[in-house]
Amino acid sequence: MATLIDGKALAAKIKAQLIEEAKTLPRRPGLAVILVGKDPASRIYVTNKEKDCEQCGFLSYEYKLPEETSEDEILDMIGYLNNNAKVDGILVQMPVPAQLDEEKIIFAISPDKDVDAFHPVNVGRMVIGDPVFLPCTPAGIMEMFKEYNIQIAGKRCVVLGRSNIVGKPMATLLMQNDGTVTTCHTKTENLAKYTREADILVSAAGHRNLVTADMVKDGVVVIDVAMNRNEEGKFCGDVDFAEVSKKASYITPVPGGVGPMTRAILLKNILTASKRHQGIQ
Ligand code: GUN
Repeated sequence: MATLIDGKALAAKIKAQLIEEAKTLPRRPGLAVILVGKDPASRIYVTNKEKDCEQCGFLSYEYKLPEETSEDEILDMIGYLNNNAKVDGILVQMPVPAQLDEEKIIFAISPDKDVDAFHPVNVGRMVIGDPVFLPCTPAGIMEMFKEYNIQIAGKRCVVLGRSNIVGKPMATLLMQNDGTVTTCHTKTENLAKYTREADILVSAAGHRNLVTADMVKDGVVVIDVAMNRNEEGKFCGDVDFAEVSKKASYITPVPGGVGPMTRAILLKNILTASKRHQGIQ
């Protein structure tokens, strides 16, 4: 039976460290959050991020913009926040309404305040191995491996999903830590052929029951990034947890696995940004 990787507990431990470190700073770290429209899931995510900031003694500034916000309006707001000395991090909650171009928004945020690490400067820095900020979800997963002494060097790592937010940076970080990495996606033929080879399997596909017990080998480490809903409306991941956990050596639950770690790393990035802005390294 697999050991459960407790993301909630590890996130609490990281937060406790951040709280102590934040107390030593001359000025409180500040996060600006921009939320465009009324998407209920985004609303919950933003509220959680603001609560996290409060718990850590960080300030958060919320900018709720109407659904019909124009590109000029949001770019002006980002420009204002880029130049606001109280703001260390800027986060535009994605997705944004269709009239807004996500790429233009990401490019407009100053790389120094890009606590999501979505800006090409931060993506590039990560790829060359000289990061300032790492993307929250993949960096949170790397912290889980460290905490549970899970070795990556020489292991076969399989990542399901190739998004800019999770799949691509996850594959990059695993490779940089000497894993042998395969990225699978919607066009991959015979997915099980790859997943059965995996020593470490990270699933960020967003399809319930995508990974079943017959698709993994004994002793696999399973990280389930997805947040799907089952027929009862409860959160579940991509992995058939009940069956796969009988074969795995380690597995993350959904919820309570990767999600809390993503939030913890965002806080870490805000603190990093603030220290840099305050001239403290
Ligand atoms: N929407 C879903 N995940 C994220 C995230 O990590 N950052 C932002 N800004 N938007 C998101």
